[in-house]
Amino acid sequence: MLESLTPQPPDALLALIKLHDEDDRPDKIDLGVGVYRTGQGDTPVFAAVKRAEERLVNEQDSKSYLGPEGDIGFVNALMPYLFGKDATMGGRIAGMQTPGGTGAVRLALALAQKAGTRRVHLGLPSWPNHAQILKDLDLELVGFDHATSEGKADLDSVLGVIAAAEPGDTVLLHGCCHNPTGIDYSNEQWDAIADALSQSAAIPLIDTAYQGLGVGMKEDAYGLRAVLAKVPEALIAQSCDKNFGLYRDRVGAFYAMAKDGSQLEDIMSNAAALARANWSMPPDHGAAAVRKILRDDELTALWLEELETMRTRLRQVRAKLAEAGQSGAIDLKPLGGQNGLFSVLPLAKSQVEALRKDHAIYMAGSGRINVAGLHMGNIEKFVDALAKVSS
Ligand code: LMR
Repeated sequence: MLESLTPQPPDALLALIKLHDEDDRPDKIDLGVGVYRTGQGDTPVFAAVKRAEERLVNEQDSKSYLGPEGDIGFVNALMPYLFGKDATMGGRIAGMQTPGGTGAVRLALALAQKAGTRRVHLGLPSWPNHAQILKDLDLELVGFDHATSEGKADLDSVLGVIAAAEPGDTVLLHGCCHNPTGIDYSNEQWDAIADALSQSAAIPLIDTAYQGLGVGMKEDAYGLRAVLAKVPEALIAQSCDKNFGLYRDRVGAFYAMAKDGSQLEDIMSNAAALARANWSMPPDHGAAAVRKILRDDELTALWLEELETMRTRLRQVRAKLAEAGQSGAIDLKPLGGQNGLFSVLPLAKSQVEALRKDHAIYMAGSGRINVAGLHMGNIEKFVDALAKVSS
């Protein structure tokens, strides 16, 4: 029976990790998968996480099961960062822990499907795994343009989709630090999106995987909060994999906002059943470490400081790229105004390949770069190589 399985290509983004590891050229540059790197090219464990882990080792007295909802202390501690002071919107939001942001997106979409969603509107390009999850769930992906040809967020496109949506449709939006383009909606655009969603038949699903890597924890939640303030119901996928640097520990959360708080129990019972059937329970360690940090003022301050260092470095790299201006046919100026880890360069597949083969520079086939892979010691080489392959 198993012979009938046809080979599947490896995930292109994850395959890059291996290709880069196998390259022994000393000046290789990894702009592939979305992990933060320091100016030395490392992805260290946050000091706040290390300290929380030490406390966990000393204080945790059981590894017994928690249940499909995972660490509810973690889920609740995150809520003010996502939703603001009234973190439950008057008792209308509840959540559960998930294996990473991917688990949260998967759970949100599976729940939407159970409630009647058949089509999901998604601005393209998007994180390739969004499409894979939709395909796996047998949900129809209806694409719209995320950005205009001038490299601005395309408000008309998203408003058109929201206005024309039919009952049961889901609109999947990136909360901040758009992956792959780095092009976010402005606050004014978010206000317009929130107004449109309040009149729409569609339910929004907001994927917030990079909060704090754009402008700030609060600033990056502007769109999410603007939408939640206006709509009757919403689904939210959150990740701590990036903003706590807990990638391999898979730390995420799923939240649902109901029209009325009395509906939450039924909604979350469905989410719990889906979680149980998918992964039973999320892994504990990373979420427990985040809970420890967020329940301790000193560790919270340390974490926020470390996050700010990351954000500042990303901004410096972006400023330096923008300063380089034109490199061959590639205009790097727009990168200065984009947010988060990613930007997309208008490179053909053959140029991406030439960068890898001739210059040991690794990036996704779409031309997406992770700007965190650049630092003052390799930006010049990168800009020169871009000129060489694109002139
Ligand atoms: C990325 O887009 O590089 C990250 O979100 C990692 C992943 O899981 O794809």
